[in-house]
Amino acid sequence: MAILELKNIEYAYNERKKVIKDACCSFEEGTLYALVGKSGAGKSTLLSLMAGLDLPDSGEVLFNGRPTSEMDLTDYRLSSVAVIYQDFELFPLLTVLENIMYPMQLNGISEKEAKKEAMRLAEKVSLAEELYDHYPSELSGGEQQRVAIARGLTMDRCLMLADEPTGNLDSENSDNIFRLLQRLAHDDNKCIIIVTHDLSIMDKADIVCQIVDGKIVRR
Ligand SMILES: Nc1ncnc2c1ncn2[C@@H]1O[C@H](COP(=O)(O)OP(=O)(O)OP(=O)(O)O)[C@@H](O)[C@H]1O
Ligand SMILES: [Mg+2]
Repeated sequence: MAILELKNIEYAYNERKKVIKDACCSFEEGTLYALVGKSGAGKSTLLSLMAGLDLPDSGEVLFNGRPTSEMDLTDYRLSSVAVIYQDFELFPLLTVLENIMYPMQLNGISEKEAKKEAMRLAEKVSLAEELYDHYPSELSGGEQQRVAIARGLTMDRCLMLADEPTGNLDSENSDNIFRLLQRLAHDDNKCIIIVTHDLSIMDKADIVCQIVDGKIVRR
């Protein structure tokens, strides 16, 4: 069964113009998707609907068969879906480990447990141990992005949405991040959806979905 399904989604910021029109698509675990389309096509809008930051005007976003309109969206975002932004959105006053621990602490996990899990995840995304106590401003773009990914891996969320995760990185870092996301999809059975303009990511994704005139077309 698809982990995420979009059923006839429509969305408009104002009455004059629908950004998303009757969009349908399903996303499976163990698969890395590239979501592409022209600037202004509605990629970030669609991501925010999948992430439960907002609800569609009509149609449904189904997570494991359950509409997001029937869920507690805060809980959905905390326990089921991770969102990774282009500009990382790390907390500047928290260290690397504290950033990764944050969602677990919101979920009531003890500091000791959260720290242990944060160290496991930091290692998984190949962050050097000497960086654990550093602040985000002291890290390179690629390192910051890996902290954001490690934070997204907390709470065992099976769906990861990334809005241009390599947009701010040089080609070497960008390649590393892509390979990390690809491993998470293929080895850890996550469903990873990457919004991207990067042609090399489009080439290497398992499935490419394009937004054209508000609809989703599989290529
Ligand atoms: N908060 C908002 N209020 C009104 N219109 C908006 C808002 N956010 C986005 N839009 C409009 O909705 C359309 C889709 O925007 P969206 O950000 O989803 O595009 P995108 O595909 O992510 O583009 P990009 O590649 O430039 O990031 C655009 O026409 C944009 O101007
Ligand atoms: Mg966008």
